[in-house]
Amino acid sequence: MSTIHQTVVIAVSPAKFILFGEHAVVYGEPAIAVAIDLPLRIIATEAKAFTVDGQALNERSHAYIKRAIDNYWEGGPVAIEIRSDVPRASGLGSSAAVTVATLAALRGLAGEDKIEEEALAKSAFEVEFSVQGRASPTDTSTCTHGNVVMLARKAGENLLWHVQKEDNSWYIHHLDIPDATFVLGNTRQRGRTWEMVAKVRRYYDKSGHARETIREIGDMTLEANKALGKGDLVAIGELMTKNHMRLSSLGVSNKMLEKLVKAVSSHSYGAKLTGAGGGGCMVALTDRPERTAKAIENAGGTPMIVKPSKQGVRIVKK
Ligand code: MEV
Repeated sequence: MSTIHQTVVIAVSPAKFILFGEHAVVYGEPAIAVAIDLPLRIIATEAKAFTVDGQALNERSHAYIKRAIDNYWEGGPVAIEIRSDVPRASGLGSSAAVTVATLAALRGLAGEDKIEEEALAKSAFEVEFSVQGRASPTDTSTCTHGNVVMLARKAGENLLWHVQKEDNSWYIHHLDIPDATFVLGNTRQRGRTWEMVAKVRRYYDKSGHARETIREIGDMTLEANKALGKGDLVAIGELMTKNHMRLSSLGVSNKMLEKLVKAVSSHSYGAKLTGAGGGGCMVALTDRPERTAKAIENAGGTPMIVKPSKQGVRIVKK
């Protein structure tokens, strides 16, 4: 009896939240994002047809995976399975994690043992950009590298790579931050990134106030970087709350996000919505995680206590 050998590769990506600078980063302003240990696994197997979770691969249901395969895969058909702890459309980077883990798994199938982070992050950004029509490399770089990542206009210490797209230039750095506990609050309302990014774009194009707000968010992120360097949790928290107010004035908050941010105000250093907004999650910085989580729950959200994850994308089985 002959045995058929199928090659199977499993790649796992962390999720992420944005600590400072979402939306503004799309216009080249700085941002700081944190990888978290919510795993998204892609299981890729050589197969007779391209499928995702048993369904024929198609643009409508699997835009990111299809684009990754179309642009970066030269081999035969692959069956992809997604096993994810990352809630979708919640601001925690599920599309970036799918893209990054898919590309890593494909590279594994092609015989690569070690992930080359820079090349992978750049390909993942191109996939996200082409699916969403507009994006920054924040989510894809954070899921690739893990840890904490800072995007800046200029190269500085601990530079990882540089991404140029149209008029924008982002220098992506590894950032060390003080030991801190964050609590996420999920509104369980879906926020669609491309819709929120397009909404801010329309406002930016017609309003000087919106353009000024984007610049102010950029300045806050630079200040936050200094506060992180000093381990000044009080200053970081205050800047988070200020950043939230600017995001609200851009029109990307909603009632539930406001409710959750308000609910944690007396238990945390500061809080803000995180990611594209319009639903999704908020994040609080606190040294009383249990009480903060309870306050989120009492206000109708789903809390999750998280710590930054050291691990970026990796191949766990080949
Ligand atoms: C989404 O997680 C973050 C945004 O800034 C979009 C992006 O950076 O691509 C809203």
